[in-house]
Amino acid sequence: MRVISVFASGSGSNLQSIIDHIEAGTLPAKIAFVLSNNSAAGALNRARRHNIPAVHFSAKTHPDPEQYAADLLSLHRDAGVEVVALAGYMKHLPPSFIASYQGRILNIHPALLPQFGGKGMFGIHVHEAVIAAKAKESGATVHLVTDHYDEGPVLLQEKVAVLQADTPETLAKRVLAVEHRIYPKALKEFLSALKDGYAR
Ligand code: GRF
Repeated sequence: MRVISVFASGSGSNLQSIIDHIEAGTLPAKIAFVLSNNSAAGALNRARRHNIPAVHFSAKTHPDPEQYAADLLSLHRDAGVEVVALAGYMKHLPPSFIASYQGRILNIHPALLPQFGGKGMFGIHVHEAVIAAKAKESGATVHLVTDHYDEGPVLLQEKVAVLQADTPETLAKRVLAVEHRIYPKALKEFLSALKDGYAR
């Protein structure tokens, strides 16, 4: 059984989809803990409801960035985490952590990367940009995280048509439904292809 951690800053509906697939037996994995930079994140409550340890790590709990990076890594190593899944996590990871888990950090983005990614492209802003650009299609992308956000190799993508009547909110809703489907699927494929051993 592969051990993962999930990072989330918001409501955690993608986290919920991952939990649901694990509980249904369609995603063979164990979530060691859910981590949030936001102590009030709905994602932490979802974790607690499913008896998954909920961890709050932020500049408040860790004012020293070096200590933060060191504690983040030891938390993962102590729990034997092999793969990290970012699910609406709004804070940048320490470069040393990305290096330690190189090629083992996944993220989900609510557009068809490499389009509509990068700085400022998060949440509703992504869908606003897609509609402003009059794009005919959008979608969701699961990709590997590198030092350059939203630029790592794509693992799985699914398209969503942009309708004439779409607002950023209606488009976001349809894209989110796709996210809930493809993130557990991409994780399952990624975990089953993973070679043994974990972070350096
Ligand atoms: C999702 O749209 C995800 O793609 C983005 O943040 C949103 C998180 O939503 N990175 P939720 O917290 O999983 O509901």
